[in-house]
Amino acid sequence: MLDPKGRNRSTGGLTSCYVTSISLDGASLASIDVDAIVIGVAPDGPGAAPAAGAADLDAALDGRLAEALTALGAAGKPGEVTKLPALGAVAAGLIVAVGLGEDPSAEDVRRAAGAAVRALAGTARVAVALPAGSADDVAAAALGALLGAYSFDAFRTGDKHKSPVEEIRLAGPGASAAGAEDAVERARVLADSIKLVRDLVNTPPSHLSPEDLAGEAERVAGETGLSIEVLDEKALVEGGYGGIVGVGQGSVNPPRLVRLAYSHPEATKTLALVGKGITFDSGGLSLKPADSMDWMKSDMGGAAAVLGALAAIARLAPKVDVVGYLAIAENMPSGTAQRPSDVLRIYGGKTVEVLNTDAEGRLVMADAIVRAGEDSPDLLVDVATLTGAQLVALGTRTAGVMANDDDVREKVVAAAGRAGEAAWGMPLPAELRKGLDSAVADIANMSGERWGGMLVAGTFLKEFVPDGVRWVHLDIAGPAFNKGEPYGYTPKGGTGAAARTLVAIAEDLAEGVL
Ligand code: BES
Ligand code: MN
Ligand code: ZN
Repeated sequence: MLDPKGRNRSTGGLTSCYVTSISLDGASLASIDVDAIVIGVAPDGPGAAPAAGAADLDAALDGRLAEALTALGAAGKPGEVTKLPALGAVAAGLIVAVGLGEDPSAEDVRRAAGAAVRALAGTARVAVALPAGSADDVAAAALGALLGAYSFDAFRTGDKHKSPVEEIRLAGPGASAAGAEDAVERARVLADSIKLVRDLVNTPPSHLSPEDLAGEAERVAGETGLSIEVLDEKALVEGGYGGIVGVGQGSVNPPRLVRLAYSHPEATKTLALVGKGITFDSGGLSLKPADSMDWMKSDMGGAAAVLGALAAIARLAPKVDVVGYLAIAENMPSGTAQRPSDVLRIYGGKTVEVLNTDAEGRLVMADAIVRAGEDSPDLLVDVATLTGAQLVALGTRTAGVMANDDDVREKVVAAAGRAGEAAWGMPLPAELRKGLDSAVADIANMSGERWGGMLVAGTFLKEFVPDGVRWVHLDIAGPAFNKGEPYGYTPKGGTGAAARTLVAIAEDLAEGVL
């Protein structure tokens, strides 16, 4: 059944409905009454040995826990999950050992917690007792566990699909560490934000038009107290946002530009975030082949990350002002679509020759980057599923980080690493600008140069960054969407990429380290 706008909305709702609860449980591991209890194991000779903190479980099994797990094939490798029925020896029904590898980092702990909770889908109540001596360790276990308890089922019927874990209890010595409550609360906020990003990316374009995405931003703003302004297609034409209008003109679903704002009374700095929000990228008249197109619902992953980050920032309340722009359009081919060789006027006046309508992200981003300059930010960070070349250069999981300032780029790479997201600094070689020269306009949206496509796109965006503004560009084409099998806390489909990095950047700016 088509709605009045010709959209097929007969199949389901917009977001998934699971909410996993999380709490601390200081009881002894053997006495915790749950369906499964997760412990960490490390490599030990040919087998695995329980990590610190599981002594009372081991005692309940007559000191034979390592022997039992090794007999089941456990070797303590990262991502490995070994299930051992407790048969009444402890209160939990199942003892689940997850491999931590040697000398686990915070990210290793997040991944282990995520892998274990993911493997326990269909189980209601789970205790997670990974080794934790500090609040940071608790935060890592909590976030990994919450992120592993994700499933996007808004469009499924029937009950064959296992639902994610409903209740997580963080147990073991970490549960009573100083600051554990705050660590869990922070994990909750970040997990909620990442869930929002994943849900938005996973929602099919039949159910997430530009107008819908702007509507989601309005809903989130209402719930978190962010202020919001939405420019519709009429306001975009009147305002001179030629990039967003040009990309959006081929679709029956008109484009939007959303501006969100968070402010702190003691803020001395302003962060501007800009996200690419192409709700579906067919390529336009420069049409994509089918196997490149089927995952292009993920092309709004940058905008989703900005929205998710702002939702988290509103709850975490760092001492910084943050504005976020979502540049939203649907890139479709039609009789009204922009043509290769059309010329657009970007907000602020620069003209662009559109040589390839599939290089649409940089067009919508240019408008929003120029507009964000009006907020006089101390730092402008844009995030976009911008180029296939990002995947060629860095693979599916590592974001490319480019900037107009080497120092700020490396600080952002470091912030991403601390947040648990893979990112790598990339250059913007000056010689690439020449390839973007246009025969008719100020710049072309595609280069005559074949190589370094991620850097070419960054070079294009750099032209639109207002003078004197420090700018960082994150290309998350690969990281935003997992086409492969789930791993660690990362599911198939939308991953939630970049939201945590953006939150970390806001916190670093608030603390004066950025
Ligand atoms: N949305 C794509 C980039 C992309 C590719 C994102 C794969 C996620 C996974 C972007 O709009 C695009 O089509 N870029 C072109 C640019 C080219 C025409 C200059 C590309 O990378 O091929
Ligand atoms: Mn494209
Ligand atoms: Zn795109």
